[in-house]
Parts: sequence; C-alpha cells; structure tokens
Amino acid sequence: MVAPSKLALTGATGFIGAALIARLVGAGWHVRALYRPRTGRIPPRLPGVEWLPGNLEDQGTLNALVAGTDAVIHCAGVVRGACRSDFDPVNAAGAGRVARAAASQDRGPRFLLISSLAARMPQLSHYAASKWRGECAVKAAAENMRWTVLRPPAVYGPGDRELLPLFRCIAKGFAPLPAGTDRRFSLIYVDDLAMAVLRWLEADAGYGQTFELDDGCPGGYSWDTVLTHAGRALREGAVVRRVPIPVPLLYLVALANFAAARLFGYAPMLTPGKLREIMHPDWLCDNRALTLATGWRPTCGLELGLARAYGKHLPG
Ligand SMILES: NC(=O)c1ccc[n+]([C@@H]2O[C@H](COP(=O)([O-])OP(=O)(O)OC[C@H]3O[C@@H](n4cnc5c(N)ncnc54)[C@H](OP(=O)(O)O)[C@@H]3O)[C@@H](O)[C@H]2O)c1
Repeated sequence: MVAPSKLALTGATGFIGAALIARLVGAGWHVRALYRPRTGRIPPRLPGVEWLPGNLEDQGTLNALVAGTDAVIHCAGVVRGACRSDFDPVNAAGAGRVARAAASQDRGPRFLLISSLAARMPQLSHYAASKWRGECAVKAAAENMRWTVLRPPAVYGPGDRELLPLFRCIAKGFAPLPAGTDRRFSLIYVDDLAMAVLRWLEADAGYGQTFELDDGCPGGYSWDTVLTHAGRALREGAVVRRVPIPVPLLYLVALANFAAARLFGYAPMLTPGKLREIMHPDWLCDNRALTLATGWRPTCGLELGLARAYGKHLPG
C-alpha cells in the first residue's frame, strides 16, 4: 500500500471536491488545492491543505499546482450549461491542460480524472460530449504518465444541488418525474466515491483504464425504487406520490429554459440535452473491474446515504 504524501486537487471547492478533501486529509495526504479567487471568498483553513489561487485557463498556475506532487486528482468541471462553449473550455480543454502540466513533471505524478458516466454516450448532450473529450485530452497528453479515469453515475450527498430539489419534493410526499416506461440507472453516495479515490491512491494500480462505479445496488434503480428508498429515509416510510410529467411537456420546458439561459446568461440545468440524458434507458454501472484493481467496495445504499446526508432535515 502506498503511504500518503503530497497530491494536487482541482474542483476542491465543489460538491464532490469537498468530500474528497475530507477523506484525503483524514488519511494523511497533504493536499495542494486549486481555487478560483472571487470577492469575499476565503478558502477554509484546513490542516494538511495548501490553497493555490488560479483557474484551469492558466497553464503556469497548473504547473505550480502539480509541481512536486505524487498524484493529481482532476475533479473540476462544469455540470450546468446550454452550449458546447459552456462545457468544453473546462471539461475538455481544462482537463487537457492539467494533464499536460502533470505529464511535463520530471517525476511524473499519477493522474486521476473524475469524468462521468455520461461520457459513455457523448452524442446525448454537450455535457456528455465535453466529458468524453476531456478523457481523450488526458489520454492524448499522457505520454508516459500513469492515468486512470473514473466515471461516476449521478452522485448525491451533503452539498449536492442537482438532486436536492427532487429529494425535497419527495420529503414533502410527491415526485415530479417523466411519464412513461421506467429507466434503470446507478447512483453513488459522495463519500463512497471519495473512498474509491482513496483506494486508488493506496493501491497504486488501475493505470491506463477507465472505470465505472456505483453503490452496488444490484440492477441499479428505477424511479419507483428510488421513491421507495427515499420515502423510507425521508418520510419514515410514508407513501410518496409519483406525479408523471408528459415527456413532450418536459421538452418544451427544457427548450424554454435553454432559450432563457442564452438570453439572460445563466447556467441552466434542465436543457434538451440534459433531458436526453435523463431519458436514456440504461445508466447502469459495474464495479467489478475497479474492485479487482483497487479493493474498493461501496458501503452505502440509497436509503442509508439519504439518511446520512439529510437525516430528517433537508437543507432549505
Ligand atoms: N455531481 C454529480 O452527480 C457528478 C456525476 C458524475 C461526474 N461528476 C463530475 O464531478 C466533477 C465535480 O462535480 P461537482 O458535482 O462537484 O460540481 P460542482 O459542485 O459544480 O464543483 C465544480 C468544481 O469545479 C471548479 N471549477 C469549475 N470551473 C473551473 C475553472 N475554470 N477553473 C478552476 N476550477 C473550476 C469549481 O470551482 P468554483 O467553486 O470556483 O466554481 C468547483 O470547485 C465534475 O467534473 C463533474 O463532471 C459529477
């Protein structure tokens, strides 16, 4: 097992990055973390964490970020947007820049890219395509660098903003969901993802590979099973009513949101591309390859994860 030393982390100020920092520092790693300075932002003082101001556009900052580290974890990304130009500069070009910085080091650090299961289907959305391009950019930059790609499915837990609105509705007893046949998908609790990263660091294995990972729920989830688990965790088992929204109506809302986002310049979540991702029938993962390579196993199913993340009080 590899002893903890120094690593570089991007995306540390985000939802998944916060869980990563907690696990990495807890295991004794010294973390050099990139953050984007903005008015009023003071990164938290944490023992074992050295904050470096900058962004993914600045190759000089990225070289300083990775200098002298044993591993680089690239987690920064854009998850909301309307157009290719909202995603690619960070998810594709940014990933390539961090990888080039790492690959140019004399004592090349190992490189872990937090990609997305969406990269499996790049034709579905600008987000999915950007994550796939990010993977390609890392591989193209790698030369002799030892790289690994992790493709998580939808991640939930404390600090998440994307699934939280749905869990809030469920806690109130209803769930607005696309009408029609059910899809199957995987989920993962954010701390299980952080543990997978830690196991990868410790195992020093799995290079040149792309791994999918989930919470180990056999056959994944349908919306009905999500409602059952979430109802138990958030409503003490009381019934959650499914409110079916016709898919054409959802597309209209997504189109309107897309147009409004371009007009008013905000980063939308529900767009036609996001809806195509949601409607895709199969987002199931298989943990076996990652478990074989690193020994990691998930420990937290949906019911337990929701109870851990929110208890009985969802953030307002
Ligand atoms: N959440 C999920 O369900 C999920 C599922 C699969 C994969 N992922 C992937 O996991 C990664 C993290 O997602 P998240 O949910 O934690 O997103 P998040 O909460 O929005 O965090 C994104 C992070 O990336 C940073 N970032 C964005 N643009 C940057 C730039 N130009 N320069 C430097 N840093 C930049 C953000 O910094 P600021 O704080 O300054 O904005 C933030 O730290 C992403 O790559 C995403 O694609 C997420």
